[in-house]
Amino acid sequence: MKFIAVRNYEEMSHLAAKFLIKQVLHKPSSVLGLATGSTPTGTYENVIEDHRKNQTSYEQVQTVNLDEYVGLTPTDPTSYRYFMENNLFQHIDIKAKNTHIPNGKANDLQAECSRYEQLLRELGVDIQLLGIGRNGHIGFNEPGTSFQTKTHVIELAESTRKANARFFDSLEQVPNSAITMGIDSILQSKEIILLASGKNKANAIKQLASEQIDKFFPASALHQHPNVTVIADREALTFCDNTEKLQTV
Ligand code: PGA
Repeated sequence: MKFIAVRNYEEMSHLAAKFLIKQVLHKPSSVLGLATGSTPTGTYENVIEDHRKNQTSYEQVQTVNLDEYVGLTPTDPTSYRYFMENNLFQHIDIKAKNTHIPNGKANDLQAECSRYEQLLRELGVDIQLLGIGRNGHIGFNEPGTSFQTKTHVIELAESTRKANARFFDSLEQVPNSAITMGIDSILQSKEIILLASGKNKANAIKQLASEQIDKFFPASALHQHPNVTVIADREALTFCDNTEKLQTV
């Protein structure tokens, strides 16, 4: 696992976008694994800006998203499908049919998980973008999730519902469950970029940097993957005392 220290959210976003753009320029039919939340928004802004300025094309690109809430329609402003349309897809030349997100409204959620996992295996993800929860979750894989999990339905931790309540009118409106790529599904990606910005991620980044593998800290599964880059800003690195060992930009 390689750590890159950056100054702030803007630098993190700029660098993360560079990884995605480089991947697409190198292989125009790349499969990008994408994430939602506050962390990747700036990355998508940089991708859009580059698309406008340099015409980087996403015509052949396919995307797969990590997760979706159960019970929300794609047109619900709090659904992750809506987030992705709004924050990225509408602003680049990607084909709608090439953007994949679990269907949280599927009648048969188990069948939807199997379909999505099959799709992931068929496509093969080239590069997966990840945020990290304060409790170390990746995707919606909460502490205690087996590292062998494929795409599955998960009950959200109360801390996760509270952390995400800012996107809803009230905590009660935050769904109790979600469909998420499993930890094993995430580890199948050829390359993984994990982003962390801000003091509220400092404990999680400290634990990740300790390199201890612990089922109750899902992000620690990433130590089992050969090609992971963590891009973290100064605040997220507050409790990492070995910053001199980190690559800085
Ligand atoms: P955030 O969420 O980007 O909104 O902080 C990250 C996560 O929970 O994975």
